[in-house]
Amino acid sequence: MSIQAASVLKAYLEQRRAAGASHVPLRPDSLERLRHYRQGRRTRAAEVRRLLEEEPAPPEPPAKVVTESPVERAKADLVIAVEGATKAQKLATLAALAEAAPAPRALGSLRDTLVFATGSPEADLMFIGEAPGAEEERQREPFVGPAGQKLTDILRAMGLERDQVYITNICKFRPAMPDQGSSNRAPTGEEMRACLPFILTEIEIIRPKVIIALGKTACEGLGIEGPVSRLRGRFFEVRGIPAMVTFHPSFILREERLTGGGIEVKRQVWEDMLQVMEKCGLPISAKQRGFFQRG
Ligand code: URA
Repeated sequence: MSIQAASVLKAYLEQRRAAGASHVPLRPDSLERLRHYRQGRRTRAAEVRRLLEEEPAPPEPPAKVVTESPVERAKADLVIAVEGATKAQKLATLAALAEAAPAPRALGSLRDTLVFATGSPEADLMFIGEAPGAEEERQREPFVGPAGQKLTDILRAMGLERDQVYITNICKFRPAMPDQGSSNRAPTGEEMRACLPFILTEIEIIRPKVIIALGKTACEGLGIEGPVSRLRGRFFEVRGIPAMVTFHPSFILREERLTGGGIEVKRQVWEDMLQVMEKCGLPISAKQRGFFQRG
């Protein structure tokens, strides 16, 4: 019996029931067909159930794609874009890319002059500061103002010259201020993020033995959170490289002014530098060990 014929028969039976009939005589062949149809419906329902049960499980949602952060993506692009056979050549092309980089300039809160880095591309030690100040911007070289002089003093105490280490900043442009004059300010998180692909690529090119993060801002930029007083004196890991946190040279200058010498801070910075020297296998004389030793 077709579905159409069955529904006609069903409608007829309902109509008869509505009219009060308790029995409707059907021809034996119609009765047989109706039974057949009902049986067929049960079979079809069972078939649908079976198909539903056998239906293959919905496909697994695609494996969660770990989306790279914009900083990591920009850094990966830079690593591909830098050209050169030597570290020096690679750094030169990286500096040219930084000069033309749209992201830091698009912020409108950083000044125009790129202050990239200084020192040896082959260095074992990489010092990372905050951002260029007025003097650094003028000379287009990091750490050449008063804080730079303090850093040079620390290097000399370690038996090193500036051209034996690599010196750079987490932010490559001097942060702008209204009526700036010679005033400087720390870069914001946004300003650091705009420059971070460059510092990460510098780390990847140089692969120093030790990174030294100078002060809170450099730490924050590298993802090391907390006050320097608590972070200093131990190694963290930045891109697989041991990274020592210590006070910024400007903080030493401030402490010198405020505490008549800043001996305690200088002692702590020196302890940190002794650890750095040990880590990268620099010779340490008895005299060097004795600097700032408590009497
Ligand atoms: N302070 C920094 O952190 N970087 C410089 O280049 C100069 C001062």
